[in-house]
Order: sequence, then structure tokens, then C-alpha cells
Amino acid sequence: MESTLSIIKPDGVKKNIIGNILKKFEDSGLKITHIKLIQLTEKEASEFYEMHDGKPFFKDLVAFMSSGPCIPFVLMGENAILRVREIMGATDPQEAKEGTIRAQYADSIDSNIIHGSDSQDSATREISFFFG
Ligand code: CMP
Repeated sequence: MESTLSIIKPDGVKKNIIGNILKKFEDSGLKITHIKLIQLTEKEASEFYEMHDGKPFFKDLVAFMSSGPCIPFVLMGENAILRVREIMGATDPQEAKEGTIRAQYADSIDSNIIHGSDSQDSATREISFFFG
């Protein structure tokens, strides 16, 4: 059993597709164990994405993630980290497989609807960031 952190980003909330996204995860058998709606400050978004500090897209990423409410949630299940990444699709929606969340809903690599932890260490850090 694993737990992983996912976030419906501000573009997903604005597009009114929260239910569609959560349904994809629930239909795959994963369980939502924590969930909330919050708006990150720029400082909080910078801290969450600190591993990308210094990269060319960092400033835009922080502005985007603090531009409106988002929904962090924890998903639990067997191989949850990998399964969530498969359901989300590739970071760049142009490379995402058909049927994945990003292929279906994302506009661009910067505005890509959903986040998912990329490793066990990230999941532990990210779950604790939002849910203590
Ligand atoms: P996410 O999985 O939330 O992690 C960091 C985010 O930075 C990523 O989704 C993208 O939305 C954004 N991003 C923009 N450009 C890039 C890039 N070249 N490589 C990785 N992530 C990028």
C-alpha cells in the first residue's frame, strides 16, 4: 500500500472539472483519504516547488499555482504513485496518452491541470506539506 499527493491545479478548478478528475481516480480503485480546497500564497507555492527553483519556468509556475484555489488530496492504494502518474499522463499534454487527464483536459505544459508525486520521498514530503 502506498499514499501519494495529487493536486487539481487552479486551471482544473476554474474549468469546473473537479468531479470528473476525482472520478477517474476513484474508478481506478484508489481511495481519497484527505482532501481540501485552498489558495496557496506565492511563498507557499515557491516552497512546495522548491526543487524547481532556478529553472526557467519556476516564476511562471509559482504565479500560476497561486493564481486561484487548488485541491490537494491524498490517494491510497497498491502502487499508488505510479498508478496516479499513469492516470495523469505526461507532464506535457502533447505527449500524454489518449484517455489520460492531461490529454483530455490540459492546455499546455504550464497549465496542465494536475500534479502527482514522482517518488516515495516526494509523496512523503508533499503529503506532510499539505496535511501535516
Ligand atoms: P508538475 O508535475 O506540477 O511539476 C512542475 C510543473 O512545472 C509541471 O507540472 C509543469 O506544469 C511545469 N513545467 C513547465 N515547464 C516545464 C518543463 N520544461 N519541465 C517540467 N515541468 C515544467
